[in-house]
Amino acid sequence: MAWLITGGAGYIGAHVVRAMTEAGERTVVYDDLSTGIAERVPPGVPLEVGSTLDRARLDRALAGHGITGVVHLAAKKQVGESVDRPLHYYRENVEGLRVLLEAVTAAGVPSFVLSSSAAVYGMPDVDLVTEDTPCAPMSPYGETKLAGEWLVRATGRATGLSTASLRYFNVAGAASPELADTGVSNLVPMVFERLTEGASPRVFGDDYPTPDGTCVRDYIHVVDLAEAHVAAARALETSPGRDLTLNIGRGEGVSVREMIDRINAITGHDRPPTVTPRRPGDPARVVASADRVATELGWKARYDVQDMITSAWEGWVRLHPEAARH
Ligand code: WQD
Repeated sequence: MAWLITGGAGYIGAHVVRAMTEAGERTVVYDDLSTGIAERVPPGVPLEVGSTLDRARLDRALAGHGITGVVHLAAKKQVGESVDRPLHYYRENVEGLRVLLEAVTAAGVPSFVLSSSAAVYGMPDVDLVTEDTPCAPMSPYGETKLAGEWLVRATGRATGLSTASLRYFNVAGAASPELADTGVSNLVPMVFERLTEGASPRVFGDDYPTPDGTCVRDYIHVVDLAEAHVAAARALETSPGRDLTLNIGRGEGVSVREMIDRINAITGHDRPPTVTPRRPGDPARVVASADRVATELGWKARYDVQDMITSAWEGWVRLHPEAARH
């Protein structure tokens, strides 16, 4: 048994590699290192540098390591960039997945876990988003994730490939400082960056129909998310023929204002946020129902927002030592 983790040198992928390895699975990383960092791959885990668009390279990696399952995280993930470069996103996220699935089915690999996103739901008009809530992505990024789910499901039905699509909600935190997110494109690192610059964090709109007027999200610790992949991988291994689509969240809404207050308190800052106009395309509230994943996989998040912010801050200070001085 060996799992190929595409995108395993990325922020989430490296946590998946770590969790799978700790659970006793043999893992191999496949990553083009476009945004991945080779140092994130632990010693003893082979790193195959290649693109998911490169069929010959994939064939060699699958055969060479006796791969029996794939967790596919290699993808582009910037919502705004996807609006400007839709063709690039469809090529990397949809065509890359199509080529990978060709290689996987040709090699007879039985199990496939897809990294999907709450972005498939768009602007859900419900309190808790279930997997049956209609999908209506608002960006090319979300479209590529939904198209990816369709590709995976159709391939499973046609070939018997056992599949799971995991819809991540808002991921934050780190298992250890060196595995922290190095990107600054989500709320937690964006607030860290402002505080480090000595500036006020920004709230993108406080006139939403939510209790404090700011957007509500479901934040999930990356370590919990990684453990959900282990549970999904195990479920596919032990009961072939599965076709799972699962939300991975905590089922708890936290507002932007609450997050910024928590970040100020945890990092020892005291900078009240500035309210700016709404960011186009932001839904007021996106919170998961995490019932199905609990039933199907017996998985439940263990960590809270405090753990996410504390661990993310340790990673931030490692990269930005000046942050600790403010
Ligand atoms: C969270 C909230 C902002 C920064 C996106 C993608 C999603 C997934 C995760 C995946 C929003 C507000 C932010 C700031 C703010 N991507 N905000 N001030 O938009 O919920 O989800 O990332 O790969 O698919 O859509 O996450 O972290 O950008 O924002 O007020 O300085 O924080 O408006 O309400 P989002 P986010």
